[in-house]
Amino acid sequence: MTLKDKINSKNIPEHVAIIMDGNGRWAKQHGKLRVFGHENGVTAVKKIVEAAAEIGVKNLTLYAFSTENWKRPQSEINALMNLLIKALNKELDSLNKNKIKLYAIGELDKLPSKTYNELQKAISTTESNDKMNLILALSYSSKWEIIEATKKISSKVLSGEIDINAINDKLFSSFLCTANFPDPSLLIRTSGEYRLSNFLLWQIAYAELYFTDKLWPDFGREDFFEAILDYQNRERRFGKTSEQLKQK
Ligand code: IPE
Ligand code: IPE
Ligand code: MG
Repeated sequence: MTLKDKINSKNIPEHVAIIMDGNGRWAKQHGKLRVFGHENGVTAVKKIVEAAAEIGVKNLTLYAFSTENWKRPQSEINALMNLLIKALNKELDSLNKNKIKLYAIGELDKLPSKTYNELQKAISTTESNDKMNLILALSYSSKWEIIEATKKISSKVLSGEIDINAINDKLFSSFLCTANFPDPSLLIRTSGEYRLSNFLLWQIAYAELYFTDKLWPDFGREDFFEAILDYQNRERRFGKTSEQLKQK
């Protein structure tokens, strides 16, 4: 029995979010420049997108570039932005073939115009796909997103469009970049780091967290299936007792 066969198809997380970390260390281990790690990271992305679609994950969010990553050396930033254009061009047909719809969340206007334009082109080309949403977090920061939502809500309160008492979890969520998607039920981070690095802080309030030492370029289908199996072995109580869940 393969790992994939062990997965319970009735308990697939509706939304999986991944902090793809460790490209630089992977390159170092191979005696290469960091860019080599990012290139191999793209190969891992392709494998995981396919694996996720295959088992029926409906939403997959990948942390590809954080707001903080703008602080990296300009040469690495340029390489990443070019790699993104290359990967989008190369994978567009396969996204369409697998009926994957592309989205991007983050401060997209900070992206170089060429990257931004390619991204928008890919997004509109995959618009009618409906098997899985692939959400790329680019120039993304959770605190930025929460502040933006707060500003928008505040201005609507001031103009009288929103009653202050109507602000609740649901309304707030609808002002985030992730308004179209359910909250992630599983968050994976590779590379042995135990932190969230400003990623989806609001949305992962009740996500199951899964950390692995594998560096992102080494993270493959089997590793992804292992994370799903680990998720399926957890009891999601949402504040209730174990007994209450069994009574259902
Ligand atoms: C993740 O790998 C990719 C990005 C943040 C763009 P890193 O580049 O952070 O790799 P490490 O953490 O330095 O090994
Ligand atoms: C988080 O990785 C961002 C992405 C994976 C895109 P980083 O490597 O930038 O995170 P820190 O700096 O180690 O927290
Ligand atoms: Mg890193």
